[in-house]
Amino acid sequence: MTLQFSLATATPETVDTACVLVGVYEQGVLTSAAARVDGAIGGAIKRQVESGDVSGKAGSTTLIYAPAGIAAKRVLVVGLGTQKGFDAARYQKVAIEAARALGKLPLTEAVSYLAEVDVPGRDAAWRVRIAALAADHTAYRYTATFKPREKSTQPELAALAFAAGAEAQPGLDQAIAIAEGVRFARGLANLPPNICTPAYIAGQAEAFAGAHDKVSCTVLDHVEMEKLGFGSLLAVGRGSANKPKLIALQYHGGAEGTAPYAFVGKGITFDTGGISLKPGPGMEEMKFDMGGAAGVLGAFVAAVKMGLKLNLVCVVPAAENMPDGDSYRPGDVLTSLSGQTIEVLNTDAEGRLILCDALTYTARTFQPQAMVDAATLTGACVIALGKHASGLFSKHDDLAAELLAAGEHTLDRAWRMPLWDDYQVQLDSGFADVANIGGKSAGAITAACFLSRFAEGQRWAHLDIAGTAWDEGRKGLATGRPVALLAQWLIDRS
Ligand code: BES
Ligand code: MN
Ligand code: ZN
Repeated sequence: MTLQFSLATATPETVDTACVLVGVYEQGVLTSAAARVDGAIGGAIKRQVESGDVSGKAGSTTLIYAPAGIAAKRVLVVGLGTQKGFDAARYQKVAIEAARALGKLPLTEAVSYLAEVDVPGRDAAWRVRIAALAADHTAYRYTATFKPREKSTQPELAALAFAAGAEAQPGLDQAIAIAEGVRFARGLANLPPNICTPAYIAGQAEAFAGAHDKVSCTVLDHVEMEKLGFGSLLAVGRGSANKPKLIALQYHGGAEGTAPYAFVGKGITFDTGGISLKPGPGMEEMKFDMGGAAGVLGAFVAAVKMGLKLNLVCVVPAAENMPDGDSYRPGDVLTSLSGQTIEVLNTDAEGRLILCDALTYTARTFQPQAMVDAATLTGACVIALGKHASGLFSKHDDLAAELLAAGEHTLDRAWRMPLWDDYQVQLDSGFADVANIGGKSAGAITAACFLSRFAEGQRWAHLDIAGTAWDEGRKGLATGRPVALLAQWLIDRS
């Protein structure tokens, strides 16, 4: 069941709902909504502040059940932290914690007044958008591969309204579309690799195209790619029984003949490392190695749902990297679609080998006005930036600035890394035009340098999302990043 969002205009003391959410800063500073409720219920919030039950600490929550004096059944008091220094990141954190607390209550509806709080530099549409996306993110549950359970009798949150004026409506509309894209991405990426194969992703893309006007889909299979010369991509998938696919979704939302924006997403449905086999512990997380594909497809879904007035293509090279008697090997020299030859020094550096052919294909076929790829490309990027920022690489300062700004706006942030030609020598090979690895140092950069050789002449940027695409650990789920960043970038272009 998906959460329904709406705007509300009633005052917090008169609104008839199962729960109202109001914010309180540290040191007992009530927001205006909290003060109104407090006045109506005889000062109960202030007394809880005095007793210490309400600390105002950022993200803390306290429930008041059935107080006399207001129409709502409950008040959820949400801590905002100190008023000084309250910023966008804190607002998002508070929105997530509030949604989490709300989700644990036995209710189906609530009205939040948190979007009324002042956030420096951000307007009401932004506040509603972030709060709705936070709630949808928190409400998401993975259910695909559990034995079907009897429906729980516990009521579940189904409708959440935000108190805000009509000026916030565009923010809410965007949130609903982006949330759908995020769910699409998370749903796909969380699937086990025996289900989410290249053919499965292709089927999902085709189904989406079939269900939407202005969207079309083409899928190349390995036989067609063979004829066209996708020597690098095909080598990666050769060891797997699940044959590679090249998926291209097109959205015709803009004027005919205007060059499209293009996304390319790494779609390795499972990365064993191939003959350069990865160690066993944690290998199951490599089912998320199609997180780039999921992310660009999710952003595509969001763009279609928003009905953006632009043309967009989304290209997904999908393959599985397996060890096998027919696998490609270290030492092999591949001929890429571009004609450049590649010496394979490590079969675990496979992402760049499927992306290079996809970049060439995208540039040649669609002549995009800008091309952005997303890929869980390197462990080195996780070492450099951790889980908070995606790595951004581009030689185009304007494009890089656009993407950084979209990340800041949505709090789906990226951090720019160098892509200087100084690093290119690390990819020198004695046997081919380029080697597929660049040695121990600057691994995320040399991977991006490799890709840059196949994006010649294009306005191109690369997002390394190895640290941001999923939460690590036994129960870690796909995050849906960088759907919000990419969707915002498109909004800004349209
Ligand atoms: N999919 C991995 C990158 C990765 C590793 C993402 C860990 C998230 C967490 C990629 O295909 C890979 O194996 N990269 C190698 C490159 C190396 C062989 C140059 C890596 O990062 O170790
Ligand atoms: Mn790998
Ligand atoms: Zn990989």
